[in-house]
Amino acid sequence: MPALDMRHVLRPLGALDLDRAAALHGEAFVPLGERGWTRQDMAELLASPGVAGLLLQIDGADVGMAICRVAADESELVTIAVRSAERRRGAGRTLLSAVLDHVRAAGARTLFLEVAADNPAARALYGSEGFRDVGSRPAYFKRGQGRAVEAFVMRLDLD
Ligand SMILES: CC(C)(COP(=O)(O)OP(=O)(O)OC[C@H]1O[C@@H](n2cnc3c(N)ncnc32)[C@H](O)[C@@H]1OP(=O)(O)O)[C@@H](O)C(=O)NCCC(=O)NCCS
Repeated sequence: MPALDMRHVLRPLGALDLDRAAALHGEAFVPLGERGWTRQDMAELLASPGVAGLLLQIDGADVGMAICRVAADESELVTIAVRSAERRRGAGRTLLSAVLDHVRAAGARTLFLEVAADNPAARALYGSEGFRDVGSRPAYFKRGQGRAVEAFVMRLDLD
C-alpha cells in the first residue's frame, strides 16, 4: 500500500500541465544521462491514442508523474519520475499503483516496461510490485559520449 498521507493529490496530466511534466521528467532523467523531454514531446505523447498521464502533488507542489499507454489488452509504462528530494517516501509506488488501476480499468491484462540495467532503484520498485524480466535490449539507452546501456523488458500480469 502507498505510504503517503492524505496531503497528496493524484490527478490526470492535462494540457495545462505540459511544462510541469517536462520539468519533472528532465529533473529525473537528465542526471541519468538521458535526454529530458520537452513541452512539445509531452504534448505529442499525451495526444497519442491510449496514452494517459498522472501528476502527483503534495501540499500543492509537484512531486512526480507517470505516463502509460493502453492498446487493447496490453499496456506500457512509458515513464515515471519522482523529484529527487521526494524519493523513498512512497511517491513512486503510489504513482505505479495508480497506473495499475488505470490500465486495468481500461482493459489491459499485462503491463510492460523497459528499465535500464544501471537503474537499481527503478528495478527494485518494479520487482517489489511483481514485475518479472521477460527480455532485454542490448545498448538500448543512449547515455551520451557513445555510451549505451542495456534495457530489461519487464512484465506484470494483471489478472
Ligand atoms: C524510480 C523512482 C520513480 C522511485 O521513486 P520513489 O518515490 O523513490 O519510490 P518509492 O519511495 O515509492 O520506493 C518504492 C520501492 O522502490 C525501491 N527503491 C526506490 N528507490 C530505491 C533506491 N534508491 N535503492 C533501492 N531501492 C529503491 C524500494 O523497494 C522501495 O521500497 P522501500 O522504500 O519500502 O524499500 C525514482 O527513483 C525516480 O524518479 N528515478 C529517476 C527516474 C527513473 O529512473 N524512472 C524509472 C525509469 S524505468
